[in-house]
Amino acid sequence: MRDNPEYSKRIIIALDDVSKDKINRVIDATAPFIEIYKIGSIAFTVFGPRIIDEIKNRDKEVFLDLKYFDIPNTVSRAVQQAVSYGVKMLTLHTLGGYEMLKAAVAANEGRAALLGVTLLTSFDAVQLKRIGIDSDIQGMVKRLALLAMDAGIDGLVASGHELEQLRNILGDKPVIVVPGIRPDDGAPAGDQKRVVSPKRAFDSGADYIVIGRPVTESNEPADTVQKIIKTLTRGE
Ligand code: C5P
Repeated sequence: MRDNPEYSKRIIIALDDVSKDKINRVIDATAPFIEIYKIGSIAFTVFGPRIIDEIKNRDKEVFLDLKYFDIPNTVSRAVQQAVSYGVKMLTLHTLGGYEMLKAAVAANEGRAALLGVTLLTSFDAVQLKRIGIDSDIQGMVKRLALLAMDAGIDGLVASGHELEQLRNILGDKPVIVVPGIRPDDGAPAGDQKRVVSPKRAFDSGADYIVIGRPVTESNEPADTVQKIIKTLTRGE
């Protein structure tokens, strides 16, 4: 996958919005270039599972990013339900622990790619300390990544800053999806603290990158996506 430079299959657009019109506008504009759309807790809370059907009916794939984190029985049943919608990828918080992750793997039966979230890209060392975790970000990410692999999780969601370290530890096999992407054109980071450019993410070993606001808040989402793909293809 990493040798395959078909960027349009490896860029995922995050549809974090409460307006169906806006979501449809973004899909209409970007559908010629994009194969996978991410539905997170905002759009899923507003529109429910029918938003997944609507995207799949357009022959696109869905990454369902609900970051499950609960007792094993609850997560297991939620995963069973989520994979029945035919989603391509699904997220869980690795902080939910080994038993929870194992329960998710068993419920999935290999249908979707189960991705573990280590630390959110909005987290920095100060925030980690404030929740009582006295580890540096890298140490914490490594510990959670190994736990996820041990439990049989297919891959990880990780910041571009930890990517090289993760590839060194885990090798090529796990799927790694990188959010917190900001093109090198001055797009605002917003609440994201550990951002990287699309090129840096792919160069460091990302299989997929997730881009939200730089595309969805753009006046010309199609142009923005095309520009990103062009820049990547030129190797800039
Ligand atoms: O708008 P932006 O490009 O910052 O969107 C990033 C998306 O990736 C959001 O939907 C966010 O929920 C998600 N995400 C993240 N960090 C993670 C996991 C998911 O930012 N660790």
